[in-house]
Amino acid sequence: MTPAGDARFATEEYLRHIMLDYRQMTEFVKEPFVVARADGIRFWDVHGKEYLDGLAGVYVVNVGYNNPRMLEAVRRQLETLPFNPPMHATNPRAVELAARLAEITPGDLNTARLVSSGSEATEAAFKMARQYHRQTGNPGKYKILSRYLSYHGATGSAMSAGGVGYRKTMYEPAAVGFLHTYPPYCYRCPYEKTYPDCEVFCARTLRTLIEWEDPRSIAAIIVEPISNTGGIITPPMEYLKILRQLCDEYTILLIFDEIITGFGRTGHLFAANTFDVLPDILCCGKGMSSGYAPLAAALVRDHVAATFWGAPGTEFAHGHTYAGNPVACAAGLASIGEIVERRLDENARRVGAHLVKRLEELRSLGIIGDIRGKGLMIGVELVQDPATKRPFPPEAKIGLRIGKQALRNGLLLRFDPHWIAFGPPLIVTEQDVDDMLAILERSIQEVLREM
Ligand SMILES: Cc1ncc(COP(=O)(O)O)c(C=O)c1O
Repeated sequence: MTPAGDARFATEEYLRHIMLDYRQMTEFVKEPFVVARADGIRFWDVHGKEYLDGLAGVYVVNVGYNNPRMLEAVRRQLETLPFNPPMHATNPRAVELAARLAEITPGDLNTARLVSSGSEATEAAFKMARQYHRQTGNPGKYKILSRYLSYHGATGSAMSAGGVGYRKTMYEPAAVGFLHTYPPYCYRCPYEKTYPDCEVFCARTLRTLIEWEDPRSIAAIIVEPISNTGGIITPPMEYLKILRQLCDEYTILLIFDEIITGFGRTGHLFAANTFDVLPDILCCGKGMSSGYAPLAAALVRDHVAATFWGAPGTEFAHGHTYAGNPVACAAGLASIGEIVERRLDENARRVGAHLVKRLEELRSLGIIGDIRGKGLMIGVELVQDPATKRPFPPEAKIGLRIGKQALRNGLLLRFDPHWIAFGPPLIVTEQDVDDMLAILERSIQEVLREM
């Protein structure tokens, strides 16, 4: 049951006191959406309406809601130690979590800089990359290369690295030293090439960019192994390997933004496993604590960590009040325990394959252009004509209309003007996916009927 009286918080009288992410509040108050309670892969709004969560909140709640092990870990930690003095000390759960992360990550990603949000993780990664080069004889390396259509967070440098123009324009000028290149968007290649004949030109051409920009000035390349904001842009298997080679050749740090892809989402514990490429810094968050407390991290390899472990003045001069918070770390340990012991990465692989199969069947509706992604991070690009890839006109906002209709019908998805995506909790079953697809199919039919 939804707690009595909560429905009043979905009225304009209350909502005018709050400002939400990416929402024009005058629109939001017309169709308010206030979530009150959740269990498993379902949640209920303040009116008691039930929804299937096809997005794990926003690729966060990997172990599902109301998980008893998570609740117990957080409750026990709250009773034992809710906070420690961060400038003077750490706490047992933070130390344990850092050691556990070293165990489960590939290669020698053995040191964790714990923080509370994905944006804090990427910000820390940029600062670490610059300091690493200053402390290893390359003080001129400061530029960060990222890709158009990417998202690395909302704060200053993270926003500057982001590659979605309209999310930045209002707040520019962005920080200096951030360069952008085209993403591996094979369905609509910005270079007008076709895979595999292209021989992954989008990765190989970075050699020219690095040379022309001056390799002595480039500190790091940051990429989401699979990028959400462009519509689950999924590179060919060779792409990240080519980036790795170029980074090695030019002494550039490779940063993976695994804030969505980490902790089982792509069918392995990390996308670094999925693509078999080891970054120098791996940023993670979201599924790390499954949303039971704010938690993220920048994980670094031994050669990077070693430069910070030495004489006074070489330490990482960076801090956050809630970094390594014991309650968040307890949530992280429990979430990782659930994902690893219940093999939720394998479940993501198996149920993800079923999701793709069921989406393929919806091609008969005539508007599915491309289905892409890995594990339980699957996007669908919607087009007016799948044969020619002709997009819908921008004013049709097809993805938004389908996403909103699905929400009205009780299914949460990620939606954008021309694509929709699934990223459900990793505990979903094939039956859950069938239930979600039934709602999606009905929603598409309803939208197409209205057009
Ligand atoms: C790939 C990626 N990087 C960074 C972030 C920023 O994380 P946060 O919202 O926790 O600051 C996000 C958030 O959605 C993300 O998807």
